[in-house]
Amino acid sequence: MTIALPMLLERTEALPGGSEKLQSTDVHGELVDGFDRHIEDLRISITDRCNFRCTYCMPEEGLQWLKSDIVLTFPEIVRLARIGVDLGIREIRLTGGEPTLRPGLPSLIRELSRIPALESLSLTTNGFLLRRLAGDLAEAGLTRINVSLDTLQHDKFHQITRRPFLDQVLAGLEELERHPTIRPIKVNAVAMRDFTEEDVVAFARLARRKPYVIRFIEFMPLDADGNWERERVLSGREIKAIIERDFMPLVPVPGQNPSSTSRLYRFPDGIGEIGFINPVSEPFCATCNRIRLTADGQIRTCLFSIEEHDLRRPMRAGATDQELADIFLRAVAHKEKKHRINEGEQFQRASRSMSQIGG
Ligand code: 5AD
Ligand code: SF4
Repeated sequence: MTIALPMLLERTEALPGGSEKLQSTDVHGELVDGFDRHIEDLRISITDRCNFRCTYCMPEEGLQWLKSDIVLTFPEIVRLARIGVDLGIREIRLTGGEPTLRPGLPSLIRELSRIPALESLSLTTNGFLLRRLAGDLAEAGLTRINVSLDTLQHDKFHQITRRPFLDQVLAGLEELERHPTIRPIKVNAVAMRDFTEEDVVAFARLARRKPYVIRFIEFMPLDADGNWERERVLSGREIKAIIERDFMPLVPVPGQNPSSTSRLYRFPDGIGEIGFINPVSEPFCATCNRIRLTADGQIRTCLFSIEEHDLRRPMRAGATDQELADIFLRAVAHKEKKHRINEGEQFQRASRSMSQIGG
Protein backbone atom coordinates (compact mmCIF):
# COMPACT_ATOMS: atom_id res chain seq x y z
CA MET A 1 0.00 0.00 0.00
CA THR A 2 1.39 3.40 -0.88
CA ILE A 3 0.39 6.26 1.32
CA ALA A 4 0.58 9.62 -0.34
CA LEU A 5 2.05 12.25 1.88
CA PRO A 6 2.56 15.86 0.92
CA MET A 7 6.12 16.98 0.40
CA LEU A 8 7.48 18.24 3.63
CA LEU A 9 8.75 21.65 4.21
CA GLU A 10 12.03 21.75 5.92
CA ARG A 11 14.92 20.03 7.57
CA THR A 12 15.78 20.59 11.17
CA GLU A 13 19.26 22.03 11.45
CA ALA A 14 18.80 24.23 14.49
CA LEU A 15 20.41 23.10 17.69
CA PRO A 16 18.08 22.63 20.64
CA GLY A 17 18.33 25.71 22.75
CA GLY A 18 19.29 27.70 19.68
CA SER A 19 17.29 30.62 18.49
CA GLU A 20 15.53 29.13 15.47
CA LYS A 21 11.93 28.14 16.13
CA LEU A 22 11.19 24.99 14.18
CA GLN A 23 8.39 24.91 11.66
CA SER A 24 5.82 22.16 11.46
CA THR A 25 6.87 19.40 9.13
CA ASP A 26 3.24 19.16 7.98
CA VAL A 27 3.10 15.40 7.50
CA HIS A 28 -0.34 13.87 7.22
CA GLY A 29 -0.87 10.22 7.79
CA GLU A 30 -1.73 7.91 10.58
CA LEU A 31 0.32 5.40 12.44
CA VAL A 32 -2.12 2.49 12.43
CA ASP A 33 -0.74 -1.03 12.40
CA GLY A 34 -2.01 -4.25 10.86
CA PHE A 35 -4.09 -5.02 13.95
CA ASP A 36 -5.81 -1.62 14.03
CA ARG A 37 -3.71 -0.35 16.91
CA HIS A 38 -3.17 3.41 16.75
CA ILE A 39 0.41 4.21 17.64
CA GLU A 40 0.57 7.32 19.79
CA ASP A 41 3.48 6.68 22.12
CA LEU A 42 7.11 7.00 21.01
CA ARG A 43 9.92 6.01 23.37
CA ILE A 44 13.19 7.58 22.36
CA SER A 45 16.44 6.23 23.74
CA ILE A 46 18.99 9.02 23.77
CA THR A 47 21.96 6.95 24.95
CA ASP A 48 22.74 3.27 25.49
CA ARG A 49 25.15 4.14 28.32
CA CYS A 50 24.32 3.70 31.94
CA ASN A 51 26.05 4.39 35.24
CA PHE A 52 24.23 1.46 36.91
CA ARG A 53 24.46 -2.21 35.99
CA CYS A 54 21.08 -3.62 37.01
CA THR A 55 21.29 -7.39 36.84
CA TYR A 56 17.94 -7.67 35.01
CA CYS A 57 19.22 -5.36 32.29
CA MET A 58 22.97 -5.12 31.83
CA PRO A 59 26.00 -7.39 32.26
CA GLU A 60 28.46 -6.50 35.01
CA GLU A 61 30.97 -5.42 32.41
CA GLY A 62 31.84 -5.85 28.77
CA LEU A 63 28.83 -4.38 27.00
CA GLN A 64 30.11 -2.40 24.03
CA TRP A 65 28.76 1.14 23.84
CA LEU A 66 27.48 2.44 20.56
CA LYS A 67 30.11 4.52 18.78
CA SER A 68 29.30 8.16 19.38
CA ASP A 69 29.07 8.97 15.67
CA ILE A 70 26.10 6.64 15.23
CA VAL A 71 24.19 8.04 18.20
CA LEU A 72 21.58 10.49 16.98
CA THR A 73 22.30 14.16 17.63
CA PHE A 74 19.70 16.33 19.34
CA PRO A 75 18.69 18.02 16.06
CA GLU A 76 18.22 14.58 14.51
CA ILE A 77 16.13 13.42 17.48
CA VAL A 78 13.98 16.55 17.34
CA ARG A 79 13.47 16.14 13.61
CA LEU A 80 12.34 12.52 13.94
CA ALA A 81 10.14 13.41 16.92
CA ARG A 82 8.39 16.11 14.90
CA ILE A 83 7.80 13.72 12.03
CA GLY A 84 6.40 11.19 14.50
CA VAL A 85 4.09 13.77 16.05
CA ASP A 86 2.86 14.84 12.64
CA LEU A 87 2.02 11.18 12.02
CA GLY A 88 -0.01 10.90 15.22
CA ILE A 89 2.43 10.44 18.09
CA ARG A 90 1.00 12.22 21.17
CA GLU A 91 3.34 11.05 23.88
CA ILE A 92 7.13 10.99 23.93
CA ARG A 93 9.17 9.34 26.64
CA LEU A 94 12.93 9.81 26.74
CA THR A 95 14.83 6.82 27.93
CA GLY A 96 18.22 5.08 27.72
CA GLY A 97 20.47 3.53 28.99
CA GLU A 98 20.39 6.38 31.42
CA PRO A 99 19.14 9.51 29.64
CA THR A 100 20.43 11.94 32.27
CA LEU A 101 23.99 11.00 31.25
CA ARG A 102 23.50 12.80 27.98
CA PRO A 103 24.95 16.32 28.35
CA GLY A 104 22.45 19.08 27.64
CA LEU A 105 19.35 16.96 28.27
CA PRO A 106 17.28 19.99 29.42
CA SER A 107 17.86 21.70 26.07
CA LEU A 108 16.52 18.64 24.25
CA ILE A 109 13.48 18.61 26.52
CA ARG A 110 12.89 22.28 25.92
CA GLU A 111 12.96 21.76 22.17
CA LEU A 112 10.65 18.73 22.27
CA SER A 113 8.22 20.48 24.60
CA ARG A 114 7.67 23.09 21.90
CA ILE A 115 6.17 20.58 19.47
CA PRO A 116 2.57 21.80 19.45
CA ALA A 117 0.55 18.59 19.17
CA LEU A 118 2.63 16.69 21.72
CA GLU A 119 0.51 16.04 24.81
CA SER A 120 2.98 14.38 27.13
CA LEU A 121 6.75 14.49 27.49
CA SER A 122 8.29 12.21 30.06
CA LEU A 123 11.58 10.73 31.17
CA THR A 124 12.59 7.32 32.50
CA THR A 125 15.64 7.52 34.73
CA ASN A 126 17.52 5.60 37.40
CA GLY A 127 17.36 8.77 39.50
CA PHE A 128 21.05 9.01 40.34
CA LEU A 129 21.48 12.51 38.90
CA LEU A 130 18.01 13.82 39.70
CA ARG A 131 18.92 15.77 42.78
CA ARG A 132 21.09 17.97 40.62
CA LEU A 133 18.92 17.93 37.47
CA ALA A 134 15.28 18.00 38.60
CA GLY A 135 15.04 21.81 38.65
CA ASP A 136 16.50 22.16 35.16
CA LEU A 137 14.25 19.41 33.80
CA ALA A 138 11.14 21.04 35.25
CA GLU A 139 12.16 24.41 33.94
CA ALA A 140 12.76 22.92 30.48
CA GLY A 141 9.19 21.62 30.32
CA LEU A 142 9.33 18.02 31.47
CA THR A 143 5.87 17.05 32.77
CA ARG A 144 6.16 13.42 33.81
CA ILE A 145 8.83 11.11 35.14
CA ASN A 146 9.48 7.44 35.94
CA VAL A 147 12.23 6.64 38.40
CA SER A 148 13.48 3.05 38.57
CA LEU A 149 13.89 1.79 42.11
CA ASP A 150 13.70 -1.90 42.93
CA THR A 151 14.29 -2.03 46.66
CA LEU A 152 14.44 0.25 49.69
CA GLN A 153 17.26 -1.69 51.35
CA HIS A 154 20.85 -0.58 50.85
CA ASP A 155 22.43 -4.02 50.50
CA LYS A 156 19.78 -5.22 48.08
CA PHE A 157 20.03 -2.01 46.08
CA HIS A 158 23.78 -2.61 45.75
CA GLN A 159 23.16 -6.22 44.77
CA ILE A 160 20.62 -5.44 42.06
CA THR A 161 22.15 -2.29 40.53
CA ARG A 162 25.76 -3.28 41.34
CA ARG A 163 26.13 0.27 42.66
CA PRO A 164 25.79 1.62 46.26
CA PHE A 165 23.61 4.59 45.40
CA LEU A 166 20.24 4.12 47.11
CA ASP A 167 20.54 7.37 49.07
CA GLN A 168 21.23 9.38 45.91
CA VAL A 169 18.12 7.96 44.23
CA LEU A 170 15.94 8.69 47.28
CA ALA A 171 17.35 12.23 47.41
CA GLY A 172 16.53 12.60 43.71
CA LEU A 173 12.93 11.58 44.36
CA GLU A 174 12.68 14.08 47.21
CA GLU A 175 14.02 16.80 44.96
CA LEU A 176 11.25 16.02 42.47
CA GLU A 177 8.69 16.75 45.16
CA ARG A 178 9.83 20.38 45.05
CA HIS A 179 8.86 20.64 41.39
CA PRO A 180 5.09 20.29 41.10
CA THR A 181 5.06 20.71 37.31
CA ILE A 182 6.53 17.20 37.04
CA ARG A 183 3.65 14.94 38.07
CA PRO A 184 2.92 12.19 38.71
CA ILE A 185 6.19 10.94 40.15
CA LYS A 186 6.18 7.29 39.17
CA VAL A 187 8.50 4.76 40.73
CA ASN A 188 9.08 1.53 38.79
CA ALA A 189 10.24 -1.59 40.59
CA VAL A 190 11.13 -4.69 38.58
CA ALA A 191 9.54 -7.57 40.47
CA MET A 192 11.60 -10.74 40.86
CA ARG A 193 10.84 -13.82 42.89
CA ASP A 194 12.95 -14.29 46.03
CA PHE A 195 13.98 -10.66 45.83
CA THR A 196 10.99 -8.33 45.78
CA GLU A 197 8.62 -10.04 48.22
CA GLU A 198 10.21 -8.59 51.34
CA ASP A 199 10.15 -5.05 49.88
CA VAL A 200 6.50 -5.06 48.92
CA VAL A 201 5.08 -3.74 52.18
CA ALA A 202 7.86 -1.14 52.51
CA PHE A 203 6.94 0.13 49.03
CA ALA A 204 3.25 0.19 49.97
CA ARG A 205 4.12 2.30 53.02
CA LEU A 206 6.22 4.62 50.88
CA ALA A 207 3.31 5.06 48.46
CA ARG A 208 1.17 6.26 51.38
CA ARG A 209 3.80 8.56 52.82
CA LYS A 210 5.01 10.18 49.59
CA PRO A 211 3.29 11.47 46.44
CA TYR A 212 4.71 8.57 44.42
CA VAL A 213 2.82 6.13 42.23
CA ILE A 214 4.74 2.92 42.82
CA ARG A 215 4.42 0.32 40.09
CA PHE A 216 5.73 -3.21 40.05
CA ILE A 217 6.86 -4.48 36.63
CA GLU A 218 7.13 -8.18 35.98
CA PHE A 219 10.67 -9.27 35.10
CA MET A 220 10.94 -9.78 31.33
CA PRO A 221 13.54 -11.74 29.33
CA LEU A 222 15.46 -8.62 28.30
CA ASP A 223 18.53 -8.99 30.52
CA ALA A 224 21.88 -8.95 28.75
CA ASP A 225 23.12 -11.89 30.83
CA GLY A 226 20.31 -14.11 29.58
CA ASN A 227 19.52 -15.27 33.12
CA TRP A 228 15.77 -14.70 32.90
CA GLU A 229 13.75 -17.72 33.93
CA ARG A 230 10.00 -18.00 34.12
CA GLU A 231 10.27 -19.05 37.77
CA ARG A 232 11.93 -15.72 38.56
CA VAL A 233 8.87 -13.73 37.45
CA LEU A 234 6.95 -12.51 40.48
CA SER A 235 3.51 -11.71 39.15
CA GLY A 236 1.51 -8.60 39.93
CA ARG A 237 -1.23 -10.84 41.26
CA GLU A 238 1.16 -12.34 43.81
CA ILE A 239 2.40 -8.92 44.91
CA LYS A 240 -1.15 -7.64 45.27
CA ALA A 241 -1.92 -10.67 47.44
CA ILE A 242 1.08 -9.90 49.66
CA ILE A 243 -0.07 -6.30 50.15
CA GLU A 244 -3.61 -7.35 50.92
CA ARG A 245 -2.46 -10.06 53.32
CA ASP A 246 0.29 -8.17 55.15
CA PHE A 247 -0.84 -4.58 54.89
CA MET A 248 -4.33 -3.62 53.75
CA PRO A 249 -6.83 -4.14 50.93
CA LEU A 250 -6.54 -2.34 47.60
CA VAL A 251 -9.28 -0.56 45.67
CA PRO A 252 -9.06 -0.13 41.86
CA VAL A 253 -8.56 3.47 40.75
CA PRO A 254 -11.67 4.34 38.68
CA GLY A 255 -11.60 5.51 35.06
CA GLN A 256 -8.32 3.93 33.96
CA ASN A 257 -7.39 4.01 30.31
CA PRO A 258 -7.74 0.44 28.97
CA SER A 259 -4.64 0.87 26.76
CA SER A 260 -2.55 1.73 29.79
CA THR A 261 0.01 -0.90 30.68
CA SER A 262 -0.59 -0.61 34.40
CA ARG A 263 -3.49 -1.50 36.66
CA LEU A 264 -3.69 1.07 39.43
CA TYR A 265 -5.01 0.67 42.97
CA ARG A 266 -5.52 2.89 45.99
CA PHE A 267 -5.77 2.15 49.65
CA PRO A 268 -9.29 2.31 51.10
CA ASP A 269 -8.66 5.70 52.73
CA GLY A 270 -7.56 7.12 49.39
CA ILE A 271 -3.96 7.87 50.39
CA GLY A 272 -1.36 6.58 47.97
CA GLU A 273 -1.36 4.62 44.70
CA ILE A 274 0.17 1.30 43.74
CA GLY A 275 0.23 -0.18 40.25
CA PHE A 276 1.00 -3.43 38.52
CA ILE A 277 2.48 -3.84 35.06
CA ASN A 278 2.08 -7.47 34.12
CA PRO A 279 3.56 -8.01 30.64
CA VAL A 280 4.29 -11.68 31.30
CA SER A 281 1.26 -12.92 33.26
CA GLU A 282 -1.31 -10.64 31.58
CA PRO A 283 0.13 -9.46 28.25
CA PHE A 284 -1.29 -6.17 27.03
CA CYS A 285 -0.04 -6.48 23.44
CA ALA A 286 -3.57 -6.19 22.01
CA THR A 287 -3.77 -2.57 23.14
CA CYS A 288 -0.10 -1.66 22.70
CA ASN A 289 0.22 1.82 21.23
CA ARG A 290 4.01 2.12 21.48
CA ILE A 291 7.03 2.13 19.21
CA ARG A 292 10.64 2.79 20.10
CA LEU A 293 13.52 4.67 18.56
CA THR A 294 16.96 3.42 19.62
CA ALA A 295 19.86 5.76 20.33
CA ASP A 296 21.35 4.81 16.95
CA GLY A 297 18.18 5.67 15.07
CA GLN A 298 16.41 2.34 14.58
CA ILE A 299 12.66 1.98 14.95
CA ARG A 300 11.65 -1.02 17.04
CA THR A 301 7.97 -1.82 16.97
CA CYS A 302 8.13 -4.22 19.93
CA LEU A 303 10.45 -4.68 22.91
CA PHE A 304 10.94 -8.18 21.56
CA SER A 305 11.53 -7.22 17.94
CA ILE A 306 14.10 -9.19 15.98
CA GLU A 307 14.09 -6.70 13.12
CA GLU A 308 14.54 -2.95 13.18
CA HIS A 309 13.81 -0.18 10.71
CA ASP A 310 16.71 2.14 10.07
CA LEU A 311 16.06 5.88 10.09
CA ARG A 312 19.62 7.02 10.74
CA ARG A 313 21.27 6.08 7.46
CA PRO A 314 18.50 7.43 5.21
CA MET A 315 18.34 10.59 7.30
CA ARG A 316 22.08 11.12 7.05
CA ALA A 317 22.00 10.34 3.34
CA GLY A 318 19.65 13.28 2.85
CA ALA A 319 16.17 11.71 2.99
CA THR A 320 13.29 14.16 3.00
CA ASP A 321 10.82 14.31 5.87
CA GLN A 322 8.36 12.52 3.63
CA GLU A 323 10.76 9.65 3.02
CA LEU A 324 11.42 9.35 6.73
CA ALA A 325 7.68 9.46 7.44
CA ASP A 326 7.28 6.59 5.00
CA ILE A 327 9.79 4.56 7.01
CA PHE A 328 7.75 5.19 10.17
CA LEU A 329 4.59 4.11 8.37
CA ARG A 330 6.19 0.98 6.94
CA ALA A 331 7.62 0.02 10.31
CA VAL A 332 4.28 0.45 12.05
CA ALA A 333 2.51 -1.55 9.35
CA HIS A 334 4.73 -4.48 10.36
CA LYS A 335 4.32 -4.12 14.12
CA GLU A 336 4.36 -7.52 15.81
CA LYS A 337 1.02 -8.84 16.97
CA LYS A 338 2.33 -9.85 20.39
CA HIS A 339 5.32 -11.10 22.30
CA ARG A 340 5.88 -14.84 22.55
CA ILE A 341 7.23 -15.12 26.08
CA ASN A 342 4.40 -17.48 26.94
CA GLU A 343 4.73 -19.71 23.90
CA GLY A 344 7.10 -22.33 25.19
CA GLU A 345 10.59 -22.08 26.56
CA GLN A 346 12.20 -21.75 23.14
CA PHE A 347 10.81 -18.32 22.29
CA GLN A 348 13.30 -16.11 20.52
CA ARG A 349 14.86 -13.47 22.71
CA ALA A 350 14.91 -9.84 21.60
CA SER A 351 17.81 -8.80 19.38
CA ARG A 352 19.09 -6.35 22.01
CA SER A 353 18.91 -6.10 25.78
CA MET A 354 16.92 -3.49 27.66
CA SER A 355 19.63 -0.83 28.08
CA GLN A 356 20.27 -0.98 24.32
CA ILE A 357 16.57 -0.69 23.44
CA GLY A 358 15.15 1.86 25.82
CA GLY A 359 12.58 0.94 28.44
N1 5AD B 1 12.22 -6.67 32.89
C1 5AD B 1 11.35 -5.71 33.29
N2 5AD B 1 11.64 -4.41 33.35
C2 5AD B 1 12.89 -4.05 33.03
N3 5AD B 1 13.49 -2.85 33.01
C3 5AD B 1 14.77 -3.02 32.61
N4 5AD B 1 15.01 -4.32 32.36
C4 5AD B 1 13.86 -4.98 32.62
C5 5AD B 1 13.48 -6.35 32.56
N5 5AD B 1 14.34 -7.31 32.17
C6 5AD B 1 12.84 -1.61 33.38
C7 5AD B 1 13.57 -0.84 34.43
C8 5AD B 1 13.33 0.58 34.05
C9 5AD B 1 12.88 0.56 32.65
C10 5AD B 1 13.85 1.28 31.80
O1 5AD B 1 12.80 -0.78 32.25
O2 5AD B 1 13.05 -0.97 35.69
O3 5AD B 1 12.28 1.13 34.83
FE1 SF4 C 1 20.81 1.28 33.72
FE2 SF4 C 1 18.16 1.29 33.64
FE3 SF4 C 1 19.47 -0.85 32.75
FE4 SF4 C 1 19.49 -0.29 35.39
S1 SF4 C 1 17.68 -0.82 34.09
S2 SF4 C 1 21.29 -0.85 34.12
S3 SF4 C 1 19.47 1.88 35.43
S4 SF4 C 1 19.51 1.16 31.83
